[in-house]
Amino acid sequence: MPEANLHLTLAFLGSRSRADADAVAALLPALAGPLGVLTTAGALWLARKLQRVTFYARTLTVPARRDVGHADTSAGERSFSDLGCSACHRLELKTGRSDVAALGEQTIRPYTDMLLHDMGPGLADGRPDSLATGSEWRTPPLWGIGLVRTVNRHTRFLHDGRARSIEEAIRWHGGEAAAATQRSASCRNANART
Ligand code: HEC
Repeated sequence: MPEANLHLTLAFLGSRSRADADAVAALLPALAGPLGVLTTAGALWLARKLQRVTFYARTLTVPARRDVGHADTSAGERSFSDLGCSACHRLELKTGRSDVAALGEQTIRPYTDMLLHDMGPGLADGRPDSLATGSEWRTPPLWGIGLVRTVNRHTRFLHDGRARSIEEAIRWHGGEAAAATQRSASCRNANART
């Protein structure tokens, strides 16, 4: 079974973060014994179940955009690009080929470039993880972020949930995003004066 599938399934089944999923994966060697004595039928059953959960997770959809065309939404969209947010939170991506037809060659608007960025000392945890240095984080998708409170009943953002609001999350941006944060702070101050 591809390790990535297993990872995704574990993450999906109850882990809130990659670190959680890694912790669960680290327990797997202890399970090797019991898994080793699985019958072929049992192993096939487990593999099929994991495949189904993986397929389900891959094809979950995102909420539709709301208030399209509303004056505030359009102004916000312009500012998002003007401030430089879209350099990393990319407005539009095209998916590659996929074994699932509905997922292949699609234009999606996830508001991420899916890449690692150095976010400065303020967000660094000093713990390199795979290809990421201790101050690099992957740009998270922002689609559906306006519904976080409704769905999760909280508004904790960033990799460790330290930001209590979207505005706080922006203020934590440093490193490669420092210029965008600076521009958004100047914008806030200018608005406060008017
Ligand atoms: C240099 C790339 C970069 C730029 C520019 C950038 N971001 Fe981010 N953004 C990130 C990364 C990486 C994270 C994740 C950081 C973390 O988890 O510690 C993030 C996290 C966020 C989050 C929290 C999302 C979540 O689910 O926790 C929000 C909201 C956000 N950015 C909005 C913005 C806005 C608005 C701007 C423009 C003012 C902006 N970003 C500019 C890379 C960037």
